[in-house]
This record gives sequence, structure tokens and C-alpha cells, in this order.
Amino acid sequence: MSRRLLMHVGPVTIDNDVLSAGLVNNAGFASPEFVEAMKYALNGFLYTVKSGNYMPFILPGSGTLAMESMTSFLKPNDSVLIISNGVFGDRWKNIFSRYNLNIDYLKAPPGRAVSLNEIENIKKHYRMAVMTHVETSTGVRFDVKSAAGILRNISDIIVADGVASISGENMEADKWDVDVVFTASQKALGAPPGAALLAISPEAVSELNDVSLSGFYNNLYAWKDIMTSILDNKSAYYTTPPVHIVFSLARAFELIKKEGIDERIKRHYIVAESIRSGIDGLGLEIVAGDDYKSNTVTAVMIDNPSEFISGLYSKNIEIASGVVPELKDRYVRIGHMGWLNINDAAATVSAMERVLHEMKYNISPGQGLKRMQEFLFNNNY
Ligand SMILES: Cc1ncc(COP(=O)(O)O)c(C=O)c1O
Repeated sequence: MSRRLLMHVGPVTIDNDVLSAGLVNNAGFASPEFVEAMKYALNGFLYTVKSGNYMPFILPGSGTLAMESMTSFLKPNDSVLIISNGVFGDRWKNIFSRYNLNIDYLKAPPGRAVSLNEIENIKKHYRMAVMTHVETSTGVRFDVKSAAGILRNISDIIVADGVASISGENMEADKWDVDVVFTASQKALGAPPGAALLAISPEAVSELNDVSLSGFYNNLYAWKDIMTSILDNKSAYYTTPPVHIVFSLARAFELIKKEGIDERIKRHYIVAESIRSGIDGLGLEIVAGDDYKSNTVTAVMIDNPSEFISGLYSKNIEIASGVVPELKDRYVRIGHMGWLNINDAAATVSAMERVLHEMKYNISPGQGLKRMQEFLFNNNY
């Protein structure tokens, strides 16, 4: 029998309660049970991003749909600023270049984030500025709060992709003055894939109208009426909602509230630091510089990534391969999002030690675990 630990960047290990909450048979999208679950999940998302006066959306789809739905705010020839720290920052460029937009693009090298100075020096005005909170390709965390403070002077709408951060990193959309934040169900919320979740400021919501670059499916102006109905306890249809995922999400938010969002973020930090201490002890290099390490993703340099990944897989730990072209075939990514605890971190570091030993690295037993235990002992965790 194998009991695998999914230390991936998404989908991630799903709590059994969350998974089984989705096993609801014969509940239609107009049923009172579904409307109640959807309303609970919508409000749960606002709790998670600490922005009670924002408008929540849950759409059938994934994080990329949420990204592309930003065209609902745009018109032909609008100017857009993209702040990219890696592959998922670049995805904005891939999306927006399919539309008639003027794009400016700032890019950081792998393992680093665009400097705030660079943003401060911009003299132009934009309809929209977009950034990525945690860049999943390298594990780099961007200072969204400070960036938003600067961007407010040069952009009408500020957007932060929180797909690899929300519920694992602090996100205070309202207080930080970020108009749109979003994630996807399969990341740190720890539910199955299938839903995109967005929170949008009242000011930005009031700017949604029927004339925009968006298509039909990702048109937030149309989806707004659906969400308004559900928040008013009434069912509504635009396209079929991901019914079972929404039941899972409602349970996830129940657990998130029970744990408390700040406690959840702290747990993510402790698990992340545990794994990183272990990695340090093993003498491996972490891709993200010291100022940029995130609570949710750690990228690690390694000589033979595919051998390392399959070695871990044979020990029932699944991690992700590297995706940054500049570091191709030289690194791996470990996801630590959702429901993981210190025991999972210890299992991961232990398996890494044994795989490195098999790969003929000069590793002594307990070398990574010792460093991890020191971190835990020293901080009384
Ligand atoms: C930061 C970030 N943005 C966007 C996406 C795209 O999300 P999805 O794969 O759910 O479409 C991902 C996926 O990993 C991501 O990590």
C-alpha cells in the first residue's frame, strides 16, 4: 500500500474532510444546499483575504481564467503594466498580448523580484498594473503591499495574482489598496482543482460594464449578477458552476476559520522554514534570495532533477519539476501549501536525505533533519 505525500505546487495534499465534503450526490446548482455552500465559500474567501467589503467571485475554471478575466476591466488600446518575477508573471504577457493592448513589462532574474525603485521611476499612467504575490516558478515572494502603495499613483486598477499565496501568506487586499486578488481552489486553500476565486474592490466592481475586451465565459460584468444573487440566497445560472468543488471549498473555509487565518499563515511559515532548514543542512542551494523566500513554495538547485524527483516519488513523496527556462534541468520545486504540518516537513527532509545518499551525495544520516530540529527547538515550535 502506498500513502503518498503530495508536496507539490498544486494540486496539493487535500484534507480528507475537504475531499469528502465534495462527495455530495444529486445536489443541483439551484438547490438550497448548493446556494448555501456557495455563499459560505464566497464569504469565506473574503475572510481569507481580510477584505469584507470586497465583492467575491467563484468561477468554474482555474487560476488562468481569473487572470484572463481581467480583460473585463480593459478596452482596446489601454495601457497595462506587467511586473514579472518569473514564468507566471510572464503568463500575463502571454494573455494580454492576445488582445489589443499597450503592454509595458518589468522582469526580474530568477530568484529575485522586480525592485520597488524600478516601479517608483515609472512616469507613465496605466489602466491596470498586474503582479504576482508568490512566483510559483521560483518560490519568490513579492512585496505586494509596498508595490501597491507605489502603483496607486500610476494605475487605475491594481491586480495581485495570489494563486500561490492566498491562505498561506498574509494578504490584506482592502488595507493594501489592491483592487483585485485571486487564487484557485487547488493551491493553498487545499481543495480539488476546478474553481477560480476572486475578490474585487467596490470601486473596481463599479467600473465593470458591458463594453470590454473580455470574452463571454470570463466576463466579470455578467458574473457579477450571478454572485449578487447567490449572496442574496438566490440561485442563478450563467455557466454550470463546479458544484462539488464548491462543497469542498465551503468545508475548507470552515476549517480555515476554525484554525484562524493568522494561525494558518504562521503554520505555513513554520512548515516552510522547517523544510528550508533541512535543505540548508543538506548543503543545497535555494533559488529564492533571502529577502524573497515564501511560505508556500521552495525551489532548490540540484544536479539531476529527474533522478531526485523519481527517487522521492519511489519514497511516496511527490514534488514538482523546475519550469524556469534559464534554470532548465537544474532545479526542483517543493510545494508546502494547504493542510501540511511539521511532521510532513520532517518526512520530506528525511526522504530527501535518503534520496541524496542514493544519488551518491556525501550525506550523513540526520544531516538535514538535525538542522530542521534545531530550528524547531530554537523557536519552541
Ligand atoms: C502564481 C500562479 N498564477 C497563475 C497560475 C495558473 O493557475 P492555473 O494553473 O490554476 O490555471 C498558477 C499555477 O500554478 C500560479 O502558480
